[in-house]
Amino acid sequence: MTTSYKITTHYYDTIVVGAGGAGLRATLGMAEKGLKTACLSKVFPTRSHTVAAQGGISAALGNMGEDDWRWHMYDTVKGSDWLGDQDAIEYMCREAIPAIIELEQYGVPFSRTADGKIYQRAFGGMTTHFGQGAAQRTCAAADLTGHAILHTLYQQSLKNKAEFFIEYIALDLIMDNGECKGVLAWCLEDGSLHLFRAHSTVLATGGYGRCFFSCTSAHTVTGDGNAMVLRAGLPLQDMEFIQFHPTGIYGAGCLITEGVRGEGGYLTNSEGERFMERYAPNAKDLASRDVVSRAIMLEIREGRGVGEHKDHAHLHIEHLDPAIIKERLPGISETARIFAGVDVTKQPIPILPTVHYNMGGIPTNYKAEVVTLKDGNPETVVPGLMAVGEAACVSVHGANRLGSNSLLDLVVFGRAAAMRCAELIKPRTAHSPLKADACDAALARFNKIRHAKGSRKTADIRLAMQRTMQSHASVFRTGEVLKQGITELQQVRASFADVQISDTSLIWNTDLVETLELDNLLAQATVTIAAAANRTESRGGHAREDYPERDDANWLKHTLTWLNQDEVICDYRPVHLYTLTDEVEMIPPKKRVY
Ligand code: FUM
Repeated sequence: MTTSYKITTHYYDTIVVGAGGAGLRATLGMAEKGLKTACLSKVFPTRSHTVAAQGGISAALGNMGEDDWRWHMYDTVKGSDWLGDQDAIEYMCREAIPAIIELEQYGVPFSRTADGKIYQRAFGGMTTHFGQGAAQRTCAAADLTGHAILHTLYQQSLKNKAEFFIEYIALDLIMDNGECKGVLAWCLEDGSLHLFRAHSTVLATGGYGRCFFSCTSAHTVTGDGNAMVLRAGLPLQDMEFIQFHPTGIYGAGCLITEGVRGEGGYLTNSEGERFMERYAPNAKDLASRDVVSRAIMLEIREGRGVGEHKDHAHLHIEHLDPAIIKERLPGISETARIFAGVDVTKQPIPILPTVHYNMGGIPTNYKAEVVTLKDGNPETVVPGLMAVGEAACVSVHGANRLGSNSLLDLVVFGRAAAMRCAELIKPRTAHSPLKADACDAALARFNKIRHAKGSRKTADIRLAMQRTMQSHASVFRTGEVLKQGITELQQVRASFADVQISDTSLIWNTDLVETLELDNLLAQATVTIAAAANRTESRGGHAREDYPERDDANWLKHTLTWLNQDEVICDYRPVHLYTLTDEVEMIPPKKRVY
């Protein structure tokens, strides 16, 4: 190795990278089970992006009317446009109930019904009796549910003696002969480098919304774990499926929860028409997010957008009782006041679909183990590596996620990862020695970027990438536009070779942090747009105007993408159309009915 970085080695049974909802739930579960557990996070845990989750977490508790996990499972499979793995969906919907009761017992301050049960609201695509009635399934702590869960999980993790390494940036996985041995990380506070050895490394690094210009994600949402997986020569799955949340604030992109429509809010166009009645006569404003986002974009395209430029829509809650708004929607009232300048009790909120969630990510089974396609086996487990939360593609969301199934995914699969580690790992087992050059590739990348002496500013390259993705991999796509996007993105990615780092220090060097993150984002943008061009059908969040129909004969399969330098390699994994217990029979229908 040409560089001379001093590396401190730490030994743990398990390490979790990321301290959002999934990372903290995994950390807590592992610590509770007596595993020596470290959690690394580039931000203070309670600042992780889960803190911004508003509307709630789904579970068929039946507190507000009849409900059944089987109906939840049906909705989730249908919402996924049949691309979700049905064994994993069954696991999630079934385990939702004990997982939420546990959260309640850990101390999450859920809102309450008059008789003291957890309050549940309606969310898009959530039904009873296999699509016949409307379910109230989304457990809420006002419209600050992620905040409530995150703080509780952090407190419980500390109580259970999990160890935290805060403001540590994970640089790369340390792999040996196809097995993950840990992770190399950089401590921002003192500039030191650390090798964390573990029998299981759990990536809980979130999505990569910041590839796009307008998104509901925090600036830190750069999919670092996904990019580490690509650099380790492993594939990502279903990266073409990007969820646009119908109600981002126009201009700012901040989230206005779907819970608003769950509490009775509705959308209108420039003619004051409640246009969702035309697009989804049954579900109306509570149709799934892909449907509502496309409807808004079509209204704008056909000249019925609101505002001076006729380029957005209106979301109304002025008709609701101000006391209800104060009690159940205090967060969005403030967000709308600050970012749109409106008083929600008197004026509509200007909204536009905004990138919100990545259905794709690191392929895993329902036990949170990372899988890959090897020697023809699409279920090959990568030893020592797990992924949970938005970083993972289990795949419980398939081509489109239902609102409030994300917080659920975080909690259920964070918990599943802990249970699997407890089965696989005997606490305090010794670690096998690593080869002397095990960290060389990771250090070489870090050192190269740290000393980059080009002429292009990180922020300029990032903006070029975000604009390309926003205009070429948007709500509606065509082969032609995607092809142009691929060419533009190749140029943007090539320009990274000319990036300039002005500060080479190692202590709180935000220039270097953002440049490492940009490298991660560029890799994910590259596989995302390539996978979108490759999939010649429309399904869930992937709407191809040149291929408007879902094509089960050719495309009822997961895309796998590897990144080999500049080349994207695509292959496929079958969708799990089988369930764990055969209690619910799910067969893809010919056509979706909303
Ligand atoms: O609209 C929302 O509150 C977002 C929830 C979700 O994405 O699950």
